[in-house]
Amino acid sequence: MKVVRRIDDLRLTGEIGLVPTMGAFHAGHVALFRAARAENETVVASLFVNPAQFDEAADFDAYVRDEAQDEQIAAVAGVDVLFAPSADEMYPAGFGTWVDVEGTGGEGAARPGHFRGVATVCLKLLNIVRPRRAYFGQKDAQQAAVVRKLVRDLNLEVEIRVHSTVRDPDGLALSSRNTRLSDSERERALALPRALQAAIGSSDPVATARAHLNGMDPEYVELIDLDGALLLAAAVRVGPTRLIDNVLLKGELR
Ligand code: PAJ
Repeated sequence: MKVVRRIDDLRLTGEIGLVPTMGAFHAGHVALFRAARAENETVVASLFVNPAQFDEAADFDAYVRDEAQDEQIAAVAGVDVLFAPSADEMYPAGFGTWVDVEGTGGEGAARPGHFRGVATVCLKLLNIVRPRRAYFGQKDAQQAAVVRKLVRDLNLEVEIRVHSTVRDPDGLALSSRNTRLSDSERERALALPRALQAAIGSSDPVATARAHLNGMDPEYVELIDLDGALLLAAAVRVGPTRLIDNVLLKGELR
């Protein structure tokens, strides 16, 4: 695996699969690497903790960074090129063009500016790497919906694949933020996947999920349409840690 830090040093050939990430790799990221490995000649993963998408400075500072370990995990998972640019490489002095995708739901409302940063960095990465396919996780369903809309609205020639959420055996969706949970917070956090699971098949999934949250006050519980797949998504805070999750109610991911 090659680690490349400069856009000009990316000399890519063949049909490319791109997995955009912010590092702190876990089995959710690995599932995306393996899906890309199975379908493309060349697998590129980007590792860039994108300052533009953090709506809270403390969250950016606290973000887990362990590039040496990430390099090992990516290499084992079959990544050919790890693109790990600096902030200056991605946002040089004078940078001033932003992509604003409309209609970003409860997640967009809860995190002003977040999806503007996500959409802008994803468009840049797609233009830099020029993949045939790009891979995103169901875990961040609203993000996947934003990227699909970006691709459609701006006529990008890339296929956006969405991989199902990878969970710990207790049901908690894997997230780099889980390491911030204390044992008791983690126990409380399990109400989120359980409440969403309880809502599958219910005639009023939003109300059912809310009723199963063990008294936690969600930022939102809402339905998301992901190109025909219907998802039930929610966000809660457990102590200082913000967690999101969703389940598939109808249709299928692709
Ligand atoms: P990051 O949080 O590193 O996630 C990278 C990709 O892994 C995303 O598509 C995310 O949905 C997926 N992912 C995370 N946890 C997962 C899980 N438990 N199961 C399956 N997939 C999972 O999302 C971002 O980075 C950034 O916003 C990015 C798209 C890279 C733009 O900066």
